[in-house]
Amino acid sequence: MATAISAVAQYGERNIIRIATDNTDLVLEVGPNKRVYQTYLGPRLSHESDLQNLSWSQHAGSDGSVSTRGWEAYSTSGNEDFFEPALGVTHADGNMTTYLYYVDSSQEPVPGGTYTRIILKDNRYPVNVTLNYVAYAKENVIKAWTEVVHQEKTLISLFQYASAMLYFSKAEYWLTEFSSDWAKEAHMSSQQLQFGKKVIDTKLGSRAAMHTHPFFEIGLDGSVKEHSGEVLMGTLGWTGNFRFTFEVDNVGNLRVIPGINPYASQYELKAGEVFTTPEFIFTLSYDGTSQGSRNLHDWARRYGLKDGEGSRLTLLNNWENTAFDFNQDILAELMKEAKHLGVDMFLLDDGWFGNKYPRKDDHAGLGDWEVTHDKLPGGVAALVKSAEDSGVKFGIWIEPEMVNPQSELYERHPDWVIEQPNRDTYYYRNQLVLDLSNPKVQDYVFGVVDNILTENPGVAYFKWDCNSPITNIYSPYAKDKQGQLYVDHVRGIYNVLKRIKDKYPDVPMMLCSGGGARCDYEALKYFTEFWCSDNTDPVERIYIQWGFSQFFPAKAMAAHVTSWNKNTSVKFRTDVAAMCKLGFDIGLQELSDDELAYCQQAIANWKRLQPAIMDGDQYRLVSPYETNHAAVEYVDKSKTMAVLFAYDLAPRFQEKLHAVKLQGLDPDKRYLVKEINLMPGTESKFAQNEKIYTGDYLMKIGLDVFTYLHNMSKIIELKAL
Ligand code: DGJ
Repeated sequence: MATAISAVAQYGERNIIRIATDNTDLVLEVGPNKRVYQTYLGPRLSHESDLQNLSWSQHAGSDGSVSTRGWEAYSTSGNEDFFEPALGVTHADGNMTTYLYYVDSSQEPVPGGTYTRIILKDNRYPVNVTLNYVAYAKENVIKAWTEVVHQEKTLISLFQYASAMLYFSKAEYWLTEFSSDWAKEAHMSSQQLQFGKKVIDTKLGSRAAMHTHPFFEIGLDGSVKEHSGEVLMGTLGWTGNFRFTFEVDNVGNLRVIPGINPYASQYELKAGEVFTTPEFIFTLSYDGTSQGSRNLHDWARRYGLKDGEGSRLTLLNNWENTAFDFNQDILAELMKEAKHLGVDMFLLDDGWFGNKYPRKDDHAGLGDWEVTHDKLPGGVAALVKSAEDSGVKFGIWIEPEMVNPQSELYERHPDWVIEQPNRDTYYYRNQLVLDLSNPKVQDYVFGVVDNILTENPGVAYFKWDCNSPITNIYSPYAKDKQGQLYVDHVRGIYNVLKRIKDKYPDVPMMLCSGGGARCDYEALKYFTEFWCSDNTDPVERIYIQWGFSQFFPAKAMAAHVTSWNKNTSVKFRTDVAAMCKLGFDIGLQELSDDELAYCQQAIANWKRLQPAIMDGDQYRLVSPYETNHAAVEYVDKSKTMAVLFAYDLAPRFQEKLHAVKLQGLDPDKRYLVKEINLMPGTESKFAQNEKIYTGDYLMKIGLDVFTYLHNMSKIIELKAL
């Protein structure tokens, strides 16, 4: 067993803590005053001896206060720093200041990386803070989180509790943020950060990322670029209210403070209770976001995502096709269609449950997870059987954290619901959020999955939806501790998800939140994939997928072919969905024979190309944000198989068409270039079709894949000979 050693290395008088990946160094130092400072964050230093040349006080203020103003690794309220702190505590005696001093540290190997712990302690109050970092060497990813514990006589109250704190000293900082709304997820926009604070946060509670996602990018030497430049890419693993604070101070330094949003959440901590923040996961890329994304994709598949290295199921979903309007016979037919199409699974969506208040639309039934008998007389068992008979797996939709007031659950347990006792109730999608801070509610929600799987072990997959934000923040369970609710509610969800994963480790699950309003790496420990958006218009999807792909591998991003934007071809729609985890949500009667044959062929191709698309390296080559086209390439790890997805969106009349230069190939390998996913009966018009080029040529000269047509797609397979 690996043993931990002190994280501090001594260089003469200097006490230095090095948190390193193969490409990046985060260097901390215990200052002469025994407080811990960040002295460096950037490209890995080649010579260890240079660590002692870094100065903990070099970033002093203009008043010359070098002895008191360094970059404190986890700055606290009331100290001499005066800018935004990471931690704010109201002590038992009402004092609101905290000063943290080094106590101890350790470093030990963990799978894929090195775990560093640094224990700090206030010198006047019995408050301990542990800074935790795991540096993943190969992926160049660091995750950081913090623990707070105290032994004061009574409760202390936390009013700020960031996961970590990072500092930068550059000429310019450019933030790329990801704004969102229903059907408008992951829209990227950029701005320069100037003096003062920029905050990205959410207060939505459960459908927390509906308006902004828990990730960001910061260009550290100019605006964020795809293939060049230094960029910080960070994301918080928290499925609730989060906040990123970016503050440029008086001397032009930037601090980045990621964490839970403490909005309406002063957290009262009992003596001995450990407050653990969510993990902040970040990478620094020195070659733009493209490399940063690949770092995160590799990390996610190895360490972040549930079953990250396993395969994924293609599926036919029925939401866009039938909505609530189905019965057992219709579903049995759809399962046959799934088989005919060539997918692995049929996924039954919303509308299968509720008897006293049947779920025939979104006004009733949530909470009553019993099949509607007159709609599905054979129950889930008959559906599993039909799926088996058709030769596909069976998956099912649930939204177990929610309740419609028109439900038996609400009638039985009005006290299980987050709802104001003394104000008018505000409903979002006619529903309310169950109070997951209450352990009895956690048991109930666990039971939703557990009962289905106990009674029907053949259920192979869950789509777990969450359509409402918390609308009337008040917990009957929390009583006079309402400040805990936003945090403890999310922790309650994790308790449930952990129990499910422990009992059913191999059941894949899709995370959905009215589209992509939940997409973070803590939730994804329990989910194999997430639903990016209800917007399946392929044109919009190219942008949405471009946005999410900055942080998530294709394997984690579910994309379905539907009837949204029928002005585009089935081929175009399918080709866009095939860039992610491919699924369908369309009735086969909507497809012509040729279109059906096309889809069957595209599914087979997608399955064959999984080593590249699901498990390989992604290169975003041509941005839809910057051009009238888009191109994304995937290369398998052995560089023997690659696929290029190229799209003409809305080219201008006679605009200059540029060849697409590929990336990530072996320059010395020879590749057969072949257009695939062709509609039956059509021939490729691609001039370079079925020709052989070296990787060197393809990367230096490229392929002429673009045309003047609108909403067209071209899929090119490259096979090493
Ligand atoms: C929202 C999801 O995003 C949809 O895919 C679908 O499952 C509906 N909810 C069902 O109510």
